[in-house]
Formats: sequence, structure tokens, C-alpha cells
Amino acid sequence: MPLDMELEAVMRPPELPMPPYPPKVVTMATGKQMVIRQVGREDVPALLEAVRPTLDITRDFYDVVGARVYAELLSWQKYRAANHYCIIGQIEGILVGIVNGRMYTQDIGMSLHTMTIERGLRVGGHLFAAKMEYQIEILGQKEVLIVAESPIGMRRFLIDFELEPRPDTPHELGGVPSNSLTRELWLKHSPRLVVGDRPVPKELMEVAEREIIAPTEELINEKILGEKRMRRLI
Ligand SMILES: CC(C)(COP(=O)(O)OP(=O)(O)OC[C@H]1O[C@@H](n2cnc3c(N)ncnc32)[C@H](O)[C@@H]1OP(=O)(O)O)[C@@H](O)C(=O)NCCC(=O)NCCS
Repeated sequence: MPLDMELEAVMRPPELPMPPYPPKVVTMATGKQMVIRQVGREDVPALLEAVRPTLDITRDFYDVVGARVYAELLSWQKYRAANHYCIIGQIEGILVGIVNGRMYTQDIGMSLHTMTIERGLRVGGHLFAAKMEYQIEILGQKEVLIVAESPIGMRRFLIDFELEPRPDTPHELGGVPSNSLTRELWLKHSPRLVVGDRPVPKELMEVAEREIIAPTEELINEKILGEKRMRRLI
């Protein structure tokens, strides 16, 4: 059934202006180059394909994070999420990680999720740093509210960035108490945790933009469950 655009105009949330994230390239420990770039609503189907298999993976809380990411991407695609953005990591076109978040207000950012498909390379660490870079440096937010759903996330984000507990501020992910990345903490930790070069060389950017290649379900299971840890996606 075609959408009732008059009704849609009322239902769709107003959007704050959000300048784009300038893409960058990170050289990984393997020597491969990961392009980190922002994607749009038109890219959601490819992202969902890669997230879908994680819904059944209980290890390291992939199921909880996967289900939430899936719902957030769909809501964003269908204009049911306000001020949402999504940034991805690709190596040779292959999707290796996804981060998302939103502007809660002009000054306060809401970090949503970080999910890695290729494990053991700090893909998630680099992508989390990139989304904080986006919220603080590009969107100019004063603080970002963050929660961890998994112990690995807790180590990577809360501990690495020494986030400040905000016990009285419920996060929109389940209402659990938030932690805050303030501008001050960002200035302290970003020189150590944020890496990457700009601009991304033209050839690399072309490969990334040509297609977001979702790994197969079998490969995703293998990567996340670590059955064959020596075999790399790339
Ligand atoms: C949290 C997350 C984004 C971190 O990603 P990352 O920085 O790329 O780190 P990895 O997950 O690859 O590795 C984390 C650690 O587990 C180890 N590890 C766990 N399973 C592994 C596997 N199958 N293969 C390789 N390494 C594995 C790594 O060696 C690494 O050890 P280190 O901390 O000593 O470096 C990622 O683990 C993830 O997507 N988890 C599920 C969703 C989630 O919890 N999101 C965060 C919510 S707050």
C-alpha cells in the first residue's frame, strides 16, 4: 500500500542539522586498510543482511546488541528515529563493523551501538572512537551518554575513555544508568585512541562506495564464534 505522505509528514520526527562525517582510513595491525565512512538510509538493507545472523549468537551479547541495532536501523530507514546516524568500517568493500548513535539534543549525544564482525583487530575500538569524534568534533556536542551491554564493550569504551558515571541519568537503551564522555575526557583520551588519515585515497573510497559487501551468515558465525580464528575475512 502506498504511504500516506500527508500522515507521514506529521509522523516523521523533525531533524536537527547534522554535518557529514568526513571519511578516514585506518591501517590495521594486519596491514589492511579500513575505510570508516558514514552511510545513509539507502544502505540499510545491506547492513541488515550482516546484522541478521547475530540475532541468534548469544556469545558476547551479540544477540542483544544485534536485535537493538536491527530495530534502530529499520526505524531510521522508515523515519521513526530522530537525528540518527550510522558509520561503518569496510575492508576491501567488506563490512567489518557498524556504529550508530543520535543527537538527543543539540548539546547531548546518545551513543547507541558498536558491533564488530571481524574480531581481534580492534575494529570496534576504532569505530567507537570514530563515532565519538563525530559527536564531539563534527556535531559539536558537549557530552555523549553511553552504556555498555557487554563486558568487552565495558573494557573498550567505559574503561579506555574513563567515562564519568551518571547514575541519575537513564540511558535510552533500557533505562540503565548512563556514563558520559565529556569534552574534557575526549580531549584527554582522543590523542591516544583516535587514529586514521584523511583524505581517503580515491581508489579506496571508490571500492568502499561501490558496494557494501555483507559477509555470509556462515562467515559471520565463524568470525564471531571464533571457530576458525586464523581465517580472516580479508
Ligand atoms: C565490543 C566490540 C565492539 C569490541 O570490538 P573490537 O574492539 O573489535 O574487539 P574484539 O571484539 O575483536 O576483541 C575483543 C577482545 O576479545 C578477543 N576475542 C574474543 N573473541 C574473539 C574472536 N572470536 N576472535 C578474535 N578475538 C576474539 C580479542 O582478542 C580481544 O582481546 P583484547 O581486548 O585483549 O584485544 C565487539 O566485541 C562486539 O561487537 N561485541 C558484541 C556487541 C557488543 O558488545 N557491543 C558493544 C556494546 S557496549
